[in-house]
Amino acid sequence: MDWTEFFDTQTGRPPRSVLTRALEHRALEHRALEHRALEIATGAPPAPPAPPAPPAMAIDLGCGEGAETRHLLTAGWTVHAVDADPGSEARVREGLGPEEQARLTFHRARFEELPELPPADLVYAGFSLPFCDPAAFPDLWARIRGTLQPGAWFAGEFFGPHDDWAGRADMNFHDRGQVDALLAGLHVVGLVEDDRPGRSAFGPRHWHLFHVIAHTPAPRQDERPVCG
Ligand SMILES: C[S@@+](CC[C@H](N)C(=O)[O-])C[C@H]1O[C@@H](n2cnc3c(N)ncnc32)[C@H](O)[C@@H]1O
Repeated sequence: MDWTEFFDTQTGRPPRSVLTRALEHRALEHRALEHRALEIATGAPPAPPAPPAPPAMAIDLGCGEGAETRHLLTAGWTVHAVDADPGSEARVREGLGPEEQARLTFHRARFEELPELPPADLVYAGFSLPFCDPAAFPDLWARIRGTLQPGAWFAGEFFGPHDDWAGRADMNFHDRGQVDALLAGLHVVGLVEDDRPGRSAFGPRHWHLFHVIAHTPAPRQDERPVCG
């Protein structure tokens, strides 16, 4: 599949809300955890607000034109961006300064042959995982789960069986029960099912999507270092 035309339609758009909402949730949970950790360390609730969640290591799977990778880099994250399309890397790097470039590792790779990836604090996969070969998907998902550190976040989409593309042999689709099974053991803070006629970048289509925001259990309070 040649994604050039799709990338052209994406140039200049804001980062997708499933990512920005996940970052907001992460910031809120981090604040609550820091408060709790300070409380344990000092024996009293802290008066000043907890520090913001620091940017850390993110993986953007199927980063495409790169809006989300650039958003994360601008916010201070170190990012491993993965995409199989030969046109992706140049698009992702466009407009980045040297300091952001230094925090970006681009892997031109297929999900089916994913390279070694670092332990991550965030895995973002926007509208991309459904394009993995169904036979390779269980291994890909196991790899994703394996990269998530304690307290790390996942944000992205799965496609459901009512989607216009359902039945394509080279894509994977999951119904609600299967999505729940994929997310077992994660704290799900957002799971929105969208099953409706709509539009894609190329015209009308029926979408059946699951927008997911979830995280792994946080490390135990008494095991966390107190920041400061
Ligand atoms: C619909 S686009 C989504 C791009 C971006 N995440 C976004 O939200 O706009 C799907 C992306 O996944 C990439 N992709 C599709 N199949 C892939 C595969 N098997 N391995 C790696 N990347 C793949 C495509 O090159 C494309 O950039």
